[in-house]
Amino acid sequence: MRALVARLAEPFGLLPLLVWLYGNLLYGRARLRAVGSDREPGDGLPVPPPRLLFLVTNECDPDWYFESGAAASSSLLELLRRHDVDIAVAAPILDFGCGCGRVIRRWHELGVEVHGTDVNPKLVEWCSKGLPFARFAVNGLEPPLAYEDGKFGLVYAFSVFTHMPVELEAAWMKEMWRILRPGGHLVVSTHGEAYLHRLNEPERVSFLAGHTVVRRGAVAGSNWCTTFHPEQAIRQRLARGFEIVDFVREGAKGNPVQDVTLLRKPV
Ligand SMILES: C[S@@+](CC[C@H](N)C(=O)[O-])C[C@H]1O[C@@H](n2cnc3c(N)ncnc32)[C@H](O)[C@@H]1O
Repeated sequence: MRALVARLAEPFGLLPLLVWLYGNLLYGRARLRAVGSDREPGDGLPVPPPRLLFLVTNECDPDWYFESGAAASSSLLELLRRHDVDIAVAAPILDFGCGCGRVIRRWHELGVEVHGTDVNPKLVEWCSKGLPFARFAVNGLEPPLAYEDGKFGLVYAFSVFTHMPVELEAAWMKEMWRILRPGGHLVVSTHGEAYLHRLNEPERVSFLAGHTVVRRGAVAGSNWCTTFHPEQAIRQRLARGFEIVDFVREGAKGNPVQDVTLLRKPV
């Protein structure tokens, strides 16, 4: 339905208006679905308001926010552990595209320097107030970030490179390289083969030929812009300049089925 509505509006330049209208409709529906779900997180940190939960997860359900955040952070730790990367030793760490703190809040007892950044100032404002153990910043849709060269030992981006066109992806990957120290790691999640059945015929042909499929690049930065990465596109383009440590099909848990890639900046 979302794809159909967007396809009808795009040629008339109405996509941003439509994103707003349809977004509000979906928000209303998500709020109704979440009625009665008011679980406390149990970590002593506050719950983001429904509007922000929806912006990031397309749901207003705190249960989903907590459970998927736990699954995402566990799958990240498991991946790092398998490759002998200790998250505490890797610090400072950065959550790029941190949203409303679904994953970063899991590091509140780690006792290391943690940063989050996002293009959406409302999300960053909430994180800054609600998650005071970490430092937050707003970034532009395009690089740069305000951090110095080689600051981080670990950067992760869950469900962020799933929402930007390839030129923007290339620019951000260079920026990720710049802010990582030599030997530092980057973890990126992407939509992969699991979505083949959702692609239309030209998209499927392009995907199977190894190209990244981009939908609605005009609204990059919002969840309406969606990308699908074949493994070949990750290995040949996204990972350029990095060593590929691991690529795990459907390995990013806590997101609607995503692949995960672990990269290392060469020493
Ligand atoms: C689907 S949400 C995922 C949020 C969070 N990573 C999580 O897993 O809960 C995508 C996030 O990427 C952010 N984003 C999109 N483009 C960005 C960019 N160019 N720079 C920083 N953040 C971006 C959005 O604002 C949004 O918070």
